Amino acid sequence: MKRSKIKVTGIEAYFYDSLINIATGFSYGRLIKSAVEKMNIKSGDKLIDLGGGTGRNTKLFAKAVGKDGNIVLADIGKTMLKKAKKRLKKYDYCQVIEADILKPFKISGFNTVFISFVMHGLEIRERSLVMKNVSKLLKKGGRLYILDYNEFDVNKLNPIAKYLFTHLECELATEFSSFDLVHFLRGYGFGKFEKWRWKDDKIRLLKAVKL
Ligand SMILES: C[S@@+](CC[C@H](N)C(=O)[O-])C[C@H]1O[C@@H](n2cnc3c(N)ncnc32)[C@H](O)[C@@H]1O
Repeated sequence: MKRSKIKVTGIEAYFYDSLINIATGFSYGRLIKSAVEKMNIKSGDKLIDLGGGTGRNTKLFAKAVGKDGNIVLADIGKTMLKKAKKRLKKYDYCQVIEADILKPFKISGFNTVFISFVMHGLEIRERSLVMKNVSKLLKKGGRLYILDYNEFDVNKLNPIAKYLFTHLECELATEFSSFDLVHFLRGYGFGKFEKWRWKDDKIRLLKAVKL
């Protein structure tokens, strides 16, 4: 098993959206729409999507913030960025930037940070680097949303689900499923947590406010 699978390259990056559709039984579109609804994005919001990939989620934010808003998608994958640029072309208030989310950003002043299915593929020290970035990116009172695997016991999954999770996902995803994310975020000055769950509680959207 690979330790991390979040660096998406080559053919996998080229067909990323289709592969996710197939892997989730074509439910990913509904999941992300539902998650974005919970986020209550408002016209004029300033949002950054870290590891935003092909821009599928970002496009929903672009529609929600409208022309008075400002959206940035940051990613490291060349093919992912190319796809995102094409998808977001008509939203001139959306910027697609090539950036390593583990390295300090030069931008700031966002009221919302979104990070979806990236944290589970990072080592703990890398999650810390991301959080240092998030703290600088967000204004006080700003909201961080993490959409990713919830905490669950992999050994309590039914045998098929356990096989699929441990074989399709990376080693770090299994470790993440027992990681206390709320406790971790408190250590970076975040609080006022809210949670929404999907897929039999295996997927969670966690909201945390920068205090
Ligand atoms: C599993 S995909 C998730 C894509 C998207 N957020 C979604 O939910 O569909 C992980 C994404 O994180 C990006 N990524 C991985 N490591 C990164 C890093 N260090 N800096 C920026 N992006 C990174 C990958 O290029 C990829 O697009």
